[in-house]
Amino acid sequence: MSKNNFAPFDGGQDPDDIGNNHSPNTTIQEVLNQSRRQLLRGSLGGAGLALFGGFGLAACGGGGSDDSPGDTGGAAPTPPRETLLGFNPVAKSLADAFIVPAGYTASVIYACGDPLAAGVAAARNDGTDTGYDKRSGDCHDGMEYFGLSAAGTRDDASAERALLGINHEYITPVFLHASGPTANPRPAGEADKEIDCHGVAIVEVRRNGGKFGVVQDSLFNRRITPNTEIEFAGVARGNALLKTKFSADGTRTRGTLNNCGTGKTPWGTLLTGEENWSGYFARGAADDAARGSDKSVTSLRRYGRNQGATSRYGWQTAGAADKYARWDISKTGASGDGSDDYRNEMNGQGYLTEIDPYDRNAAISKRTSLGRFAHEGAAFSRPVAGKPLAVYMGDDSQGEYVYKWVSAAAWVSTDATAANRMATGDKYLNAGKLYVAKYKPDGSGEWIELSITHPAIAGYASYAFADQADVVVNARLAADAVGATKMDRPEWCATHPGTGEVYFTMTNNSSRNAATVDAANPRAYTDMKGSTVQNGNVNGHIIRMAEQGNEPGATAFTWDVYLFGAEAEAGAGINLSGLTAINDFSSPDGLAFTPSTGICWIQTDDGAYTDVTNCMMLAAVPGKVGDGSRRTVISGATTLDTYVGREASPTTLKRFLVGPRQQEITGICETPDGRAIFVNVQHPGENTTAADLSDPAKFGSRWPANAGYGAGQRPRSATVVITKDDGGRIGT
Ligand code: FEO
Ligand code: CA
Ligand code: CA
Repeated sequence: MSKNNFAPFDGGQDPDDIGNNHSPNTTIQEVLNQSRRQLLRGSLGGAGLALFGGFGLAACGGGGSDDSPGDTGGAAPTPPRETLLGFNPVAKSLADAFIVPAGYTASVIYACGDPLAAGVAAARNDGTDTGYDKRSGDCHDGMEYFGLSAAGTRDDASAERALLGINHEYITPVFLHASGPTANPRPAGEADKEIDCHGVAIVEVRRNGGKFGVVQDSLFNRRITPNTEIEFAGVARGNALLKTKFSADGTRTRGTLNNCGTGKTPWGTLLTGEENWSGYFARGAADDAARGSDKSVTSLRRYGRNQGATSRYGWQTAGAADKYARWDISKTGASGDGSDDYRNEMNGQGYLTEIDPYDRNAAISKRTSLGRFAHEGAAFSRPVAGKPLAVYMGDDSQGEYVYKWVSAAAWVSTDATAANRMATGDKYLNAGKLYVAKYKPDGSGEWIELSITHPAIAGYASYAFADQADVVVNARLAADAVGATKMDRPEWCATHPGTGEVYFTMTNNSSRNAATVDAANPRAYTDMKGSTVQNGNVNGHIIRMAEQGNEPGATAFTWDVYLFGAEAEAGAGINLSGLTAINDFSSPDGLAFTPSTGICWIQTDDGAYTDVTNCMMLAAVPGKVGDGSRRTVISGATTLDTYVGREASPTTLKRFLVGPRQQEITGICETPDGRAIFVNVQHPGENTTAADLSDPAKFGSRWPANAGYGAGQRPRSATVVITKDDGGRIGT
């Protein structure tokens, strides 16, 4: 998620991640003197909770269930005999290499520029490759596995053949062009290449002779780019806020953009999260006045586009063609509704977008009802027949919020295998309720519905909401209105397959300080990186939540902080989770449970600890909310209490891999037998400048070429498949 503009910067801070939330919502300081009810600790503290492992997890579910294919809360399969986290931990590393534990093998299978259609030449990897709408995009990110039978039909059990749905979040421009990118005005050819490098890829992989590889000529392969036509679905479809010159009736747009985390629906489709899209749009210096200072100005500012904002890659300067003009969102037309210009174009990005990986002809839908913000991944509650589905979602920017969607429709198990998957998406993702989280200092929390009927929203002084479509398109403003809790950059989320509890990474927050800490974001401290002083919640944390009664539609929950990122050598007041050399980490970002083992995988996108180690992935076996203790945290002059999960140990948290230089590890999925996992390496060598291009020795990384993959020496974002040499399940 760190974004490389033309000017490189050390990972972790995209301009879009710096807060645009200037609402006065609580920082919970007033609660310091509040008596803290021990509802959480009192009920769970002495329970002597056992560690969960493998399929045994399913036994602690607690939710009702049936045994249908789409119901993950069903009877527990036979427990495996392996020991979870049985591998030897990988040491922190600054090597330009992808390092896995002894007894494991990692192989690159799909790197930026690789061909995805018959007849497309292999990547030269020297900045001269073109036609990226038929090649791998750049900056691989979230990823999901969709099994295919030998006959080429959906087969959720297949470990031999599959489609990977892979996000291509953004670009490392210096390596895409022979001599690096040209300044504005951008040459059309450069802009076209950069645009095509964004979006999503559907890629067939197949096991041949025991090894996975990409099927270059598969008819399933395709790229969805910022130029691909996409439908709006849900409550905002056809709304005035979505009218543009491209779609005067507000029902369609082009493209999905800055695709970060993913989700896999219980009916077998891909959800892709549109994250840092705001920075792609330019806005004229006098646009406030051009808009008559109407309420759209408030919306634009809240989503990070003040008038005069420049665009990240300058695509609007590449020519008069509509595909470039759309990136300038200034009001230039004379219409009253925006149907003659692109003043509303940015309202078309910022959603969870649903793609049917198995059907290239199916419509692609933006699920507007689930809100517009800097979406990370999407985690479903465990489907239970007769109950609604919940979808958990984070908004990654400093001081933004945690959200939940609850479907109006109750889950019907046969929908898991329904033939018309996008119609199933319509059923569960268009009608329902959108909530935002408020974390309370006593370890409880509240989901507040973002509804036009909520008095605080209907009567919000800062922005006059017109209808529910306005609420979801401006979800951040609605969440401000109801007093949601400002978080330390909510990144990915994942649902524990055994407990149903939901885990959220809070990657870091350099703007958190002693005056704004709260129980759920309790740390603000100083850490040195060489001679550089780093402040705030430098290393991030992972919060987890248990819904009241294990109900997906609950409006109350309990929470604790599962893990705090820290350097092992940090003081006990910072290293609150007892991390040691085998498991210390900074800036948790990607997060997923693999269903076959129940292992929780934690991936880092860090810029704070990178003087000591490259970004990494850890394997964890978490307990549950309340398995730790209440702890007092001191930040400057502020002292407050928080709730920390049980301390890490070698049997519950171990570093599984470390990646090459100047990259992040992101995206994970597995074969259903758990014997192979797929992981992405994003933007290796991202700090390389155009001046460095003449000498490969100056590249920030040369991976994966230095591991024997592909032509050239430029580093490339890539997908890696990891197997265990004894054929066992990954992480055992
Ligand atoms: Fe694309 Fe917030 O990470
Ligand atoms: Ca991320
Ligand atoms: Ca440090």
